[in-house]
Amino acid sequence: MRGYFLLNLNVNGAGGVAAAPKFATTTAGSYYYHWLRDAALSMRALQETNPGNFTDIESIVKSYIQWELKTQSQTDPNGVDVRVEPKFELSNASPYTGGWCRPQDDAPGLRSTTMIIAAQNLINNNELSYVQSYLWTNNANSYNGGAIKYDLDYILTGYASNTCDLWEETQSTDFFWNRITMKKALFLGSQFATAMGDTSSATSYYNTALTINSTLYANHWNGVFIQESTNHPQDGGVIVGLNDGFYAEDDLFAPTSLEVAQTVAYYNAVFCGEYAINTQDTANGVPGILYGRYKGDVYAGGNPWQLISAALASLFYRGAIYILTNGVPSSDVLNVWKAAFNVASLPTDATSLAQVFAAQGDGVLLRVRYHVAGSGFHVWEQMDRNTGFQLSAADLTWSVSVVPSLFSLLLSDDVSIVR
Ligand code: NOJ
Ligand code: NOJ
Repeated sequence: MRGYFLLNLNVNGAGGVAAAPKFATTTAGSYYYHWLRDAALSMRALQETNPGNFTDIESIVKSYIQWELKTQSQTDPNGVDVRVEPKFELSNASPYTGGWCRPQDDAPGLRSTTMIIAAQNLINNNELSYVQSYLWTNNANSYNGGAIKYDLDYILTGYASNTCDLWEETQSTDFFWNRITMKKALFLGSQFATAMGDTSSATSYYNTALTINSTLYANHWNGVFIQESTNHPQDGGVIVGLNDGFYAEDDLFAPTSLEVAQTVAYYNAVFCGEYAINTQDTANGVPGILYGRYKGDVYAGGNPWQLISAALASLFYRGAIYILTNGVPSSDVLNVWKAAFNVASLPTDATSLAQVFAAQGDGVLLRVRYHVAGSGFHVWEQMDRNTGFQLSAADLTWSVSVVPSLFSLLLSDDVSIVR
């Protein structure tokens, strides 16, 4: 799987990331473009699954940085800010000019998070001068202050703008996915700006992160489950966001919290009822559950998605680690986890409970594995809701990036990766 993933990065040595290879889909249109979201999450996964071996991937990371400096430097032909343009041509890094859901304002947060991880890797590798030349220049005339600062500055004024969601269909000014990943970027950015000697940016980022946090809970926790937005409440993007946007210092929506437990219990019922393959797999003794984008999705037939299911597994692995680090949740919360896991009882000592969470993660991954093994571990975008056969885009880079990043959580002894 990692091999297929690597093939889609650094296209033609220019640093772009193909969302999927050429001709990967005949039904859903071409995925042979550089999507800012898919690329940022993939380049983050590349680094997080390679702890301690940055030199192996350094040239891919530097190519990506140079590519994104190119995309950031253009005037957008579609009338939006180029930092929130969804996708770019792989031939020349210019914005796609066909009709599309624009803008998509999750990109600046996702990309700056990936770039901050890159900057830390570069600094650890004695390459501070590269960081100062491209990522944080301390000079507004040089790359708008650097790739990281330019993106974070977008969020300061743009975080509450109208945007398309991550599935490129719905519009709102307040999506959970966008807000939680933005605030994570701002908190990390604040620390990073401080390290680069820019206390004024650090303060603005920190204050805006607090502002986003001040409504994140009230606007998205509806008392029953965490909702993506008022006009699109139940949404698998929430599950992905709980991983990618978690920030350990604020501890908001921690992986074993009551809110996450209720959300999992609720979404289990939604996706179990939605996809016949879930009932069939359970009847056949295949563990786990498959999640998709949302109930009523019709894209390529409206099916479970590998990356969203894998994100659920990741949430459970993160829960296991969280229990080992922070202890066992209260008995009220454990009661909700019982319902979510459909078990009669749960152990109350940290090690045994962490093992249950890890086993639940394994269960979900085993169900994904059951449907992708037959394709020689090529991971597509979707699995047929009735038969489980893989569908839509083959070798979707983002799918493959979610799955191996789970293992890094287990292999790495660097707890900061879990953030
Ligand atoms: C393409 C988008 O990528 C996908 O998310 C969306 O569902 C379809 N267009 C239909 O709008
Ligand atoms: C459609 C998905 O809905 C969207 O999230 C993704 O960015 C594109 N496909 C490209 O993979």
